[in-house]
Amino acid sequence: MKMPDNTLISIKAYFKNELNSFFDASEIESMFYITVEHYFSITKKDFILTPDKRLSESDLLKVIYCVKGLKTKKPLAYILGEWEFFGLPFKVDENTLIPRPETEELVDIILNENEGNLSVLDIGTGTGCIPIALKKQNNNYQVFAVDVSKEALNVATQNAGLNEVEVTFLEYDILKNRNSTFQQQLDVIVSNPPYIPESDKIQMANNVLDFEPHLALFVANSEPLLFYDAIADFAKKNLKNKGKLYFEIHEKFGIEVVNLLAKKGFSNTQLIKDINSKNRIVSAQLIN
Ligand SMILES: C[S@@+](CC[C@H](N)C(=O)[O-])C[C@H]1O[C@@H](n2cnc3c(N)ncnc32)[C@H](O)[C@@H]1O
Repeated sequence: MKMPDNTLISIKAYFKNELNSFFDASEIESMFYITVEHYFSITKKDFILTPDKRLSESDLLKVIYCVKGLKTKKPLAYILGEWEFFGLPFKVDENTLIPRPETEELVDIILNENEGNLSVLDIGTGTGCIPIALKKQNNNYQVFAVDVSKEALNVATQNAGLNEVEVTFLEYDILKNRNSTFQQQLDVIVSNPPYIPESDKIQMANNVLDFEPHLALFVANSEPLLFYDAIADFAKKNLKNKGKLYFEIHEKFGIEVVNLLAKKGFSNTQLIKDINSKNRIVSAQLIN
């Protein structure tokens, strides 16, 4: 298609025509509005009110660059370098998973079930989306977050600054530290660990497989509960009496994670469905 003139309406038509063989119409529409809001602070409402507004040549180039990237199946979050989670902006790059809506549900449950001056640790923090959203909503929490990836911790630290919250980030391999004593006893431990068995790769979309960090996603087929097992041991050692553990899980392994926690002596274990009715969250309590 020929290049658009610089009006918003013509840029939207360009966006649609270039991408309609790659994505469905509603996805293109949503990506267009996210893009113009991100680059030019133009909201959907602004667009509707002023469709003939003209962008500069350099602004137009940003949209063209974005369309080029989307055609390679690169996720929009990585093209923009930023994504929204729990209504907050998060920097993302190739070392961090893109925060997902189901993880927002996990944050919501923790906030609803845990009031007061509590100490909270997030294991496998990536962008820092979980601890930063928790701290932003409840400033009484004292929040720690760990990851094995230095690069991810670097992004997470920037995100804490961007959102003006205090989180203590530490480089920590949970698989090597399952029996370690943390720097203090904790009220809440949360984790969205790597949980996708390698065998799921064949049915996964290229935009995830080719761009998101495999360190954040996959576990060996023979050990799908590897991280849950290690984190449960760590939680037994480091949670206070009546402390709580929250996991995001693979929808296929709900019962297995519940059984694992019961075997390790956790109480009040709950398997919680997400808004799409998939088993997505497990919570449990440690009662000594
Ligand atoms: C599924 S991602 C979750 C990221 C983020 N919490 C979120 O919800 O978007 C899992 C994270 O665990 C980290 N990770 C992988 N192996 C780890 C290990 N052995 N110890 C600590 N973190 C690990 C990865 O670097 C990645 O950031």
